Amino acid sequence: MDALPAAGDPLIPAAEIRAALHRAADWAADYLEGSAVHPVLARALPGEVAATLPAEAPEAGRPLDAILDDVDRRILPGITHWNHPGFLAYFANTGSGPGVVAELLTAALNVNGMLWRTSPAATELEEVSLDWLRQMLGLAGFWRGIITDTASMSTLLALAAARDAAVTDLRQRGLVGRLDLPPLIVYCSEQAHSSIDKACLMLGLGLDQLRKIPVDADFRMRPEALAAAVAADRAAGLRPMAVAATVGTTSTTSIDPVPAIAEWCRAEGLWLHVDAAYGGAAAVVPGRRAVLAGVDAADSLVVNPHKWLLVPMDCSALYLRDPERLKAAFSLVPAYLQSTEAAPVTNFMDWGVQLGRRFRALKLWMVLSAYGREGLAAVVDGHCRLAQDFAARIDAAPDWERLAPVPFSTVVFRHRPAVIGDDEAALAAHNALILERVNARGRVFLSHTQLGERYALRVAIGNAGTDAGRLAICWEELQAEAEDLQP
Ligand SMILES: Cc1ncc(COP(=O)(O)O)c(C=O)c1O
Repeated sequence: MDALPAAGDPLIPAAEIRAALHRAADWAADYLEGSAVHPVLARALPGEVAATLPAEAPEAGRPLDAILDDVDRRILPGITHWNHPGFLAYFANTGSGPGVVAELLTAALNVNGMLWRTSPAATELEEVSLDWLRQMLGLAGFWRGIITDTASMSTLLALAAARDAAVTDLRQRGLVGRLDLPPLIVYCSEQAHSSIDKACLMLGLGLDQLRKIPVDADFRMRPEALAAAVAADRAAGLRPMAVAATVGTTSTTSIDPVPAIAEWCRAEGLWLHVDAAYGGAAAVVPGRRAVLAGVDAADSLVVNPHKWLLVPMDCSALYLRDPERLKAAFSLVPAYLQSTEAAPVTNFMDWGVQLGRRFRALKLWMVLSAYGREGLAAVVDGHCRLAQDFAARIDAAPDWERLAPVPFSTVVFRHRPAVIGDDEAALAAHNALILERVNARGRVFLSHTQLGERYALRVAIGNAGTDAGRLAICWEELQAEAEDLQP
């Protein structure tokens, strides 16, 4: 369109930028092939990275080559390598090659997809790639999605929509001083992620209005306890607003009985949000689709492609049964953002808090395109099988104890030598020490959780590079440290 040559960067020569991009591309390719040369968990001490950097901002710019040297020298020692096959902590993830390529292009395009017209491709790719993901997960056709940064944000938006749906004049009058309005109550299991608590904090409901429903022996929400809690709240004059069920809880990856909860919520007129941030990914495997059973009767659903679907941080998919609910809560269009198009379009700024939006759809689309459902299913299913093998080792070892079922790719367990007996504090200290020592070795990185009185170790398989050999190392190191520490 424009005959003028590209203006380029006024300060840094194009050749220097090109050279740095090539160097960065080679760096990234080397890293993706060889991240395992690094210790998984950063060995930096607090303040050590900052101490290698000048305290004052540079007055004059430095060559990009020198800055890239600094990345290796000063930054890398302080990196905990999430993209390492030995990363088995929290929920491990993968910044895959296709996702990394997409991130580079996304930064170069520097699109802000706040309105359809501010980049039609960004909006339409978001709609299409989320619909592809929906199909891959075997979800019903009515779901419409939006990409957010994290499951925490997705859940906040979903519960904001639920709050708006529960109180028709909330948007205008808010919650402050509402003597006409009983407290709004949210329900989740006592194993639900803290992002539900945070949403209640941010929505002005307050933590006292979040009911933590007890779980069964397998850490799943007990529907009859949910029903009893809602009935008690109604009898007390409170207003039940929403239930958040989880498919793949953070500590043990348990699956709440969504079919029963969903049916009951519909009968009771309660909004059901399903947090499948981690576990939802398993539905790309046809034989594992049942993990999302009942979800099609929910009102909102979150699945994080950045957790187990090879998309680099960050990318969370929030699906709504009726996106108008979200728009009713958030749409607010000042004059300077009004736009009219020849046909109806989606303006994603209407769907949430943010105005400016990263072009995250490019990496989702690129990953889904590069691997296809089959490729993603092979990775996810492989992880679940590795977890079963690891669980079998724990089950077969006399002094080790598995603490939860393994429906996905995460194993929760502890060392329980007879000599320590039932002393929970001593068992916790013993296992914490095992964890610290194994992590210090640098070949694997595990995390822990607390299940009631019991301190538990977690092996969470989610990096595409993790294989049976790595888990064999993990098991050998756990056993070696446990033996060494035996009282
Ligand atoms: C079940 C569950 N929900 C939500 C979250 C929050 O995810 P995010 O970091 O994307 O906010 C997590 C994090 O691990 C999780 O395990």
